[in-house]
Amino acid sequence: MIVLGIETSCDETGVAIIDANRRVRSHLLLSQMQDHEVFGGVVPEIAARAHLTHLDRLIGQSLHEADLSFSDLDGIAATTGPGLIGGVMVGMMAAKAIALVHQKPFLGVNHLEAHVLSARLMDDIPFPYLVLLVSGGHTQILVAEAVGKYRLLGATRDDAVGECFDKAAKLLGLPYPGGPNLEKSAKLCTDIQAARSRFPFAIPLEHDPGIGFSFSGLKTAMRNAVDKIISADNTIRKDDLSALAASFQHTLSATLALQSARAMQSFRKQYKSDHPAFIVCGGVAANQAIRAELQATSDAHGFKFLAPPLEYCTDNGAMVAWAGLEMLRAGLTTPLDAPARPRWPLETLGG
Ligand code: KG4
Ligand code: ZN
Repeated sequence: MIVLGIETSCDETGVAIIDANRRVRSHLLLSQMQDHEVFGGVVPEIAARAHLTHLDRLIGQSLHEADLSFSDLDGIAATTGPGLIGGVMVGMMAAKAIALVHQKPFLGVNHLEAHVLSARLMDDIPFPYLVLLVSGGHTQILVAEAVGKYRLLGATRDDAVGECFDKAAKLLGLPYPGGPNLEKSAKLCTDIQAARSRFPFAIPLEHDPGIGFSFSGLKTAMRNAVDKIISADNTIRKDDLSALAASFQHTLSATLALQSARAMQSFRKQYKSDHPAFIVCGGVAANQAIRAELQATSDAHGFKFLAPPLEYCTDNGAMVAWAGLEMLRAGLTTPLDAPARPRWPLETLGG
């Protein structure tokens, strides 16, 4: 079984071909980072046009690299939501056209499901497993019960953690994309304890019962901290910057770890699994400090910890191809008149 996958829901044009043995036959990714950098964030119209300009060529190149033709494929998958609707339309229409012309099944992939299933692209992880999904638009903890079946345990009440990273980086004067650049600055801090006592942040919802997230207060706390150290000419001393970035990142990791630990306890009560697995996925899962913290939390609670390799954490075509393949195997093909969906919560799949 071989599936082509297309990802165009944000600012990465991803095309990949994958087979049922988890062999990635081709994996192409075109980042539009430079197109959006001057605006300090993704501009939806520019993103959609860039996908349109490059997608056909990438699909051709992908088949060429895999030494395959359309007739060798068993299914054509594309992200059909959630995401920036212009870009989603570009990828979805290309996939539908190929499916129609070559009489192949079409697989309309939920972008969040693609992140969640990306763990199974690496390893044979059985359902059910616990997932922390941390991206630019989403922060949630859920149980993956089966392909197309997800149960939400907790989610953010306001901003996503990736967005919080990006906003904080902007306040620190770091270039777009904020998350990876804030991580780089934090790495330069040599004394995290001193950084934390100099720039203390409270862990959101630490004393609230249940599983959930809130990041808007942290953003305000970050703005206040920056205001105190920024000079008249709008600059921040290098060591202040790395200390503040490190303390902030530490707070985000501790927040994710705390809520993940609560979710692990809840999972253990509700599911019988001798060797439960905990997966972190989405763009923020590329953060090394967060990975290390979550590894420690998993060890403490007896969960096997898994995080996709960095290239499969941020948006990419391989995860879409793999999700499409899982859907095809489960008989979950998509009609050609299915719509693109700017919003599409995971828990509503299969319902
Ligand atoms: O999953 P993703 O590529 O796109 C969405 O579906 O949203 O996630 C992008 C988010 C951005 O907010 C980006 O700043 C964040 O992931 N991110 C990181 C890192 N790499 C990407 N955040 C913190 N540390 C990183 N190394
Ligand atoms: Zn994503």
